[in-house]
Amino acid sequence: MEYGVTAGLDIGTTKVCVVISQKDVYGDILVLGVGVAPSYGLRKGVIVNIDSTTESIAKAVEAAEVMAGVDVDELYTGITGGHIKGQNSRGVIAVSSRNREVTYREVDRVIEAAQAINYPTDKEIIHVIPWEFIVDEQDGVKDPVGMSGVRLEVDAHIVTGGATALQNITKSVNRAGFNVEDFVLSSLASAEAVLSEDEKEVGVILIDIGGGTTDTILFVNGSIQYSSVFPVGGKYVTKDISVGLKIPDNIAEKVKLEHGFCSKEYMKSEDDIEISGVGGRGSKVVPQMTLCNIIEPRVEEILDLVYRDLVRKNALELASGGIVLTGGTASLLGIEEIAERIFNLPVRMALPDNVIGLRDKIASPIYSTALGLSIYGLREDSTGVFESQQNKRGIFRRMKSSLSEFAKEFFA
Ligand SMILES: Nc1ncnc2c1ncn2[C@@H]1O[C@H](COP(=O)(O)OP(=O)(O)OP(=O)(O)O)[C@@H](O)[C@H]1O
Ligand SMILES: [Mg+2]
Repeated sequence: MEYGVTAGLDIGTTKVCVVISQKDVYGDILVLGVGVAPSYGLRKGVIVNIDSTTESIAKAVEAAEVMAGVDVDELYTGITGGHIKGQNSRGVIAVSSRNREVTYREVDRVIEAAQAINYPTDKEIIHVIPWEFIVDEQDGVKDPVGMSGVRLEVDAHIVTGGATALQNITKSVNRAGFNVEDFVLSSLASAEAVLSEDEKEVGVILIDIGGGTTDTILFVNGSIQYSSVFPVGGKYVTKDISVGLKIPDNIAEKVKLEHGFCSKEYMKSEDDIEISGVGGRGSKVVPQMTLCNIIEPRVEEILDLVYRDLVRKNALELASGGIVLTGGTASLLGIEEIAERIFNLPVRMALPDNVIGLRDKIASPIYSTALGLSIYGLREDSTGVFESQQNKRGIFRRMKSSLSEFAKEFFA
């Protein structure tokens, strides 16, 4: 693959999307190509049909390659689904170097110690992301190398995922003719595309509501302290419309996209909605409020699920910066109002539009994950030009690369 160019692959429940990008000399993200193909081989974010997923991946990559004029071989690939679990863990070691100075060796050892968590044998570690080190009694240390102490601790966020789900992604990508460069938690990728560094410092929760999953991640002090995947999304909303109005799924989806809203202040007029072509029975007339009354409770239920988990894990109180919504379902008119009511925090809807190049092609919340994967890849790639930024994340990067080696061995 061309030097300094990366590709992100988002295998979503409704579409497979590939974004190819590059950083220009000013550090701006230049989007070179975007490819999208409908996805039929997934349920709730997890591959259930390899052939069909392989086909979608091949189509999406080819479209992005043609647009970008570059060949892709490695893909930073997103991972989501109900099998994903985020948990926090603390590692503790004694500093054993001769002059009691923390070196990279100690950092590796303490991160290793943090990985000693209980997780089922059918799960794999995807990320180990340290958020702070503690040297003796001193907490809040971002980079302990060079400090003196006898005891080194680390608090880290660990993400695990089902081994077979990972294998099925690798298989589908390989069969399409490409390699997985690295697995990246989808919400972490979306965060790369839509959150600002300031928000991540203050404390912010990103909720990516797609078709089959709702991916949530909390950043505070620049690091991840909570992540969770809820296997619910816009497909449930469509199903409710289909059952409620007694219309087929495909028509329900169209009605949702054309007329859907979930807070009554967004009712455009008193006019009824005319739904045509319902199974040869001609058209059907539905009051707008009926549609809102179907969509609103489901959206509330999805956001309430997220709210309750955040409260249970003491994570909500850390998000002084508020809530950011992205993913296709975040396009529903009125969803911000519902989220404000549930979380009692400021809410904004975010598009991945902080880029140059094909900005208009990518400025939709459905592309946050794919763009973010490609940006994540740019950060991982050592191009030398962006060294200062990479050094800032030195420890995180080193951890990731050793883990991806591990993953490569595992799937070899
Ligand atoms: N304007 C819109 N109004 C309402 N819903 C929308 C709109 N645009 C897209 N959606 C819904 O968003 C969902 C698709 O979002 P997205 O592309 O983020 O999901 P995905 O990445 O394919 O799935 P997942 O991340 O859940 O695996 C669909 O359910 C679609 O109906
Ligand atoms: Mg998605």
